[in-house]
Amino acid sequence: MNNQFLADRIDGKGFAANLVEKLTDDVTDIKEKTGLIPGLAVVLVGEDPASSVYVSAKHRQTLAIGMQSFVHKLPIDTSQTELMALLTELNAASEVNGILVQLPLPAHLDTNAVINAIEPDKDVDGFHILNAGRLATGQDALVPCTPLGCLMMLKDRLGSLAGMNAVVVGKSNIVGKPMAQLLMAENCTVTVAHSKTRDVPALCRTADILVVAVGRPEMVKGDWIKSGAVVIDVGINRIESDGRSRIVGDVAYDEAGHASAITPVPGGVGPMTIACLLANTVTAFKRQHKIVTKKEAVVV
Ligand code: GUN
Repeated sequence: MNNQFLADRIDGKGFAANLVEKLTDDVTDIKEKTGLIPGLAVVLVGEDPASSVYVSAKHRQTLAIGMQSFVHKLPIDTSQTELMALLTELNAASEVNGILVQLPLPAHLDTNAVINAIEPDKDVDGFHILNAGRLATGQDALVPCTPLGCLMMLKDRLGSLAGMNAVVVGKSNIVGKPMAQLLMAENCTVTVAHSKTRDVPALCRTADILVVAVGRPEMVKGDWIKSGAVVIDVGINRIESDGRSRIVGDVAYDEAGHASAITPVPGGVGPMTIACLLANTVTAFKRQHKIVTKKEAVVV
């Protein structure tokens, strides 16, 4: 492998900070012009530690940009009917512009039914079947936050993506599938690799843009990456090595020095996800209130 590490580090943390600053101005502007404050409701069922950390971070950052935050913590034995009743209330509440149900839900709840009970124009996760369909057919969708953040960083780096070969490794509903749709909408030639794909390394080597979202520590090796490719690493994996715990991505970062640019883990895609959730909430507010100017359009 190369001795020299020549790839640029894509600074997701800095990118997210800039986006948050812009959103803070946007929210101030909205308050001045309409007298209203955009609001995000987050629903957490149970006390999963990782989910609780994410929900606290969302609450804190929502308040930090001047929006309203409504956190609903429900007991782990909440029934489907009770959860649906809360969503009906939130769908109707005018002060709530965005709704997010933290996943995973406890096993006794029907996740798809819950997601599809959210009013699509408040579905700031972009997981509702109608938003998935809108994205697939080029209509104004609310777009899942993680792939939206990845696309913003790719466009910032590359400008037009038209004609590029993009390989997305992982086909989840949350990242892989919407990422592929977004790249197709940018006129990339897109291939999606997954656990049954025959020769993933060979496919990755064809990629001008390589997005990896599989949740397997350092799976993508240096010799899977074409020289000059732009690599987006969505993985966040905690591993134990040399007796200590650290966070690594799905790409062997130290072997990727011949890429033209790569997102580090941590500090790459991760910080963009909550920033894009806030962006989606502002977008949802603007669409609900029919405030859509070019300057104010956050969605790429
Ligand atoms: N759990 C892990 N990632 C996500 C996400 O993007 N949205 C929701 N609602 N739950 C999650």
